[in-house]
Amino acid sequence: MELIIDSADIGKIKALNELCTVTGVTTNPTILTQSGKEALDVIDELISLLSPDQKLFIQVVKTDYEGIMEEARKISKLRPKNMYVKIPVTHDGLKAIKTCKEEGIHTLATAIYTAEQGFIAACNGADYLAPYVNRMCNYGDGVETTKDLIEMLRVHQIPTKVVAASFKNTYQVHELIKAGIQAVTVPCDVLFNMIDHPATTIAVGEFTMNWQKAYNRKELFK
Ligand code: E4P
Repeated sequence: MELIIDSADIGKIKALNELCTVTGVTTNPTILTQSGKEALDVIDELISLLSPDQKLFIQVVKTDYEGIMEEARKISKLRPKNMYVKIPVTHDGLKAIKTCKEEGIHTLATAIYTAEQGFIAACNGADYLAPYVNRMCNYGDGVETTKDLIEMLRVHQIPTKVVAASFKNTYQVHELIKAGIQAVTVPCDVLFNMIDHPATTIAVGEFTMNWQKAYNRKELFK
């Protein structure tokens, strides 16, 4: 499974990239604005931070077909490989995903709220589909809808990967990993919550304390 970081916080991405085996980074226009920096500068920082084998996902901002294609072509040239263009599944977006497929531009179909939207985008040649798990909970069960999408692709043997997005808690991620999802993109705070547990810190403290009491030192070797 691909573990992706959903953020443009360079410091936290750096830290998590050292702690975990990370496939790449997803952003969207809102995430880039949250960095508090010029978006193009943050994109440059992300490109420098990631290894060439890690994937970077940048979303188009323009919403009309021509505009999406203009930005998609530019985004796809930002790196020699592993550069993905995120395109929302609007009418113009779906058309653009088809054209990108013809032009060999890698895409991630985003802002997906139903399994059907995702399935249609997959048929158009999207490489990844991003169902908005938490946001979908306003309309139904985001986890179950995402499982339906995984099943639709499996039954029809479509190779498009589902990268579940818009997570707000570890439970949502847990359920989809258990269901065999191909990829998840997780915000830094949720990913830290997946890693950290207070009981682990307490257990390590106990080991050190007992060791020190018995041997009057803090290390294994003298
Ligand atoms: C990532 O691809 C999505 O754009 C992101 O997960 C959306 O997250 P949000 O629902 O927190 O805005």
